[in-house]
Amino acid sequence: MRNTLKHLKRASALGAVALAAFSLTPGSANAQPTGPEPSPSVVGGTRAAQGEFPFMVRLSMGCGGALYSQDIVLTAAHCVDGSGPDTSITATAGVVDLQSSSAIKVKSTEVLQAPGYNGTGKDWALIKLAEPIDQPTLKIADTTAYNKGDFTVAGWGAAVEGGGQQRYLLKASVPFVDDATCKAAYDELVTGEEICAGKIAEGGVDTCQGDSGGPMFRKDDGGQWIQVGIVSWGEGCARPGKPGVYTEVSTFAKDIKAGATQLGG
Ligand code: ARG
Repeated sequence: MRNTLKHLKRASALGAVALAAFSLTPGSANAQPTGPEPSPSVVGGTRAAQGEFPFMVRLSMGCGGALYSQDIVLTAAHCVDGSGPDTSITATAGVVDLQSSSAIKVKSTEVLQAPGYNGTGKDWALIKLAEPIDQPTLKIADTTAYNKGDFTVAGWGAAVEGGGQQRYLLKASVPFVDDATCKAAYDELVTGEEICAGKIAEGGVDTCQGDSGGPMFRKDDGGQWIQVGIVSWGEGCARPGKPGVYTEVSTFAKDIKAGATQLGG
């Protein structure tokens, strides 16, 4: 269990129950379902088709990510331990089935965690890979133009609050939740750095533990996928009145681009 400052802050402020409810801890990397029929993952989701989201990456610490370039993965700051050389992470890509023999597996060489990350906001990080992955990348939103509408989320994380990690990639659609509504749900929301999504009234659809670091995305005006968010946190998963909170990619687009340049990609 990763003791982020967010953890500690929430633990002291809200107690042990809320610590679990607000957990930023990535899912266990080796938890896999045993049955032949995977339960839907990303709470309230359905199976993604092979090749539907070719930029999706599973990271070995139990997080998601997206190919920013063929050798750089964009993920969440709370999924990594800091910045510097790091060969401990394995990225799995090119498959919806993590156990597929055609999975592409590449090791990390270096990590860049968002400068100034302290557990609140700024929840992004870049992971440089030892070799490029020959899959399409996901472009990031560098204006606020697409911070509205319905978003797609995908991941191998828990299918229900407290549930296990999934073998097959699942996807769901979640509507944008405006800052004022989200701030009313979460006083600690950093509105300039975080963007919320979810079915506020009814709940039932959300990302969950182990989806962290994965992208929230939509189509741009040219019909191409564009990343607007990074799975960050929420109180429980898919609870009514408690939307998912995502890193607002447009806010950090310049920093992310600069970071990628720094990593040589
Ligand atoms: N922090 C979680 C992780 O590390 C992601 C939680 C997302 N929660 C939510 N309700 N959308 O995997």
